[in-house]
Amino acid sequence: MKKVRIAIIGAGMIANSAHLPAIGNLKRQELAEVVGVADIRPEAARETAQRYDIPKWYEDPQQMLDELKPDLVSVCTPNVYHKEWSIKALEAGAHVMCEKPIALTYQDAKEMFETAERCGRILFPCQSRRWSPDMVFAHDAISQADIGKPYFADISFVRRYGIPTWGMFHMKEHNGGGPFCDLGVHFIDALLWMTGNPRVEAVSGKAFDYLAKQGNDILLSIKESGAYTGVFTPRPYDHREFNVEESAMGTIRLEGNFLVNFRFTWALNYPTSKSFLLCGDRGGIDVENFMLYKNVGHYQAETKLKFFDNRPYTDKAFDGHWYMYEHVLKVLEGKEERVVKPEETLNIVSAIECFYRSAEENREVASAELKDYGKA
Ligand SMILES: NC(=O)c1ccc[n+]([C@@H]2O[C@H](COP(=O)([O-])OP(=O)(O)OC[C@H]3O[C@@H](n4cnc5c(N)ncnc54)[C@H](O)[C@@H]3O)[C@@H](O)[C@H]2O)c1
Repeated sequence: MKKVRIAIIGAGMIANSAHLPAIGNLKRQELAEVVGVADIRPEAARETAQRYDIPKWYEDPQQMLDELKPDLVSVCTPNVYHKEWSIKALEAGAHVMCEKPIALTYQDAKEMFETAERCGRILFPCQSRRWSPDMVFAHDAISQADIGKPYFADISFVRRYGIPTWGMFHMKEHNGGGPFCDLGVHFIDALLWMTGNPRVEAVSGKAFDYLAKQGNDILLSIKESGAYTGVFTPRPYDHREFNVEESAMGTIRLEGNFLVNFRFTWALNYPTSKSFLLCGDRGGIDVENFMLYKNVGHYQAETKLKFFDNRPYTDKAFDGHWYMYEHVLKVLEGKEERVVKPEETLNIVSAIECFYRSAEENREVASAELKDYGKA
């Protein structure tokens, strides 16, 4: 097979700590190579090119697309720029791997998938946690454990104090939103994937920003904020710029009388924790603790499930990206079906848009209210 020529737009943390190591693994197998990297901060592009031995770096992503004509472009910019660069890369003839969330509105996500179709290319949303051990386990266990019809889920990803400070996560004009976009998207995506993608009917949510605005009195950990490695050229953080939510709580109504309770936070006076509980009419599953709640005869039973992750990259930082890139190459070769389907991504993006409108307007917002919702 011809090596896939990959270019990167946005040379920050996720490019350096997830995408480039994952592509490095493909490079060692002679399956792919990185031909260029672009970033509006030239120092980030230049240093990334030096670090990963990338032949060309650019300050202007369009110039890179025009000159290099890559086969695949990985869009690793802050969220607000995902749509623009994905569309430009698709129109330049490349397939696109776009970081999550691919868009902040249903209409934008729809336009991105329509562009991919028109250009005869594939847009791969980076829902990398579909390959992380907890979600692989949950997907597999739910498919086998027969918990019946799911009707309640409690999903939460709480960081007591884990505000990402190295980039533009905290600025609405660049990132669109806070932990709902950052952490919530992964958990909602996983839940919808495991339960057959029930349609998001409505979201009722609240967004808070009390702690982040208190300033720099609390020492922040980059690692506890989600960056294990790869923060080489951070942008200086100023808490006065913080204008997204630091915590997002609420409920999502899914079709089929299915309610989801959620909590996604970068800052909350609450223990740092994750929970992922799914309840059906025949059983329930606690994903984080590998527990199955299902009766045996007339006895209530609590079963600890054993999960063995025998895959090769599970000790790597951002292992999900390693599996995801291998999958993308197999899809491009026609050997695998896409795991992340456009209709699933559109469903998640509708939850994002409903959540932010709900928080702003202080009411439940239905997906049917969104612009272009459901239009073919
Ligand atoms: N899949 C995951 O698990 C995961 C984890 C962390 C971050 N992410 C996503 O990755 C994206 C980037 O996050 P990050 O932590 O690398 O942020 P970052 O701030 O470290 O990196 C973003 C880079 O994009 C550059 N940039 C900004 N605007 C640009 C533009 N218009 N054109 C080109 N480059 C531009 C910045 O200069 C910066 O170097 C976000 O969308 C985030 O949600 C995903």
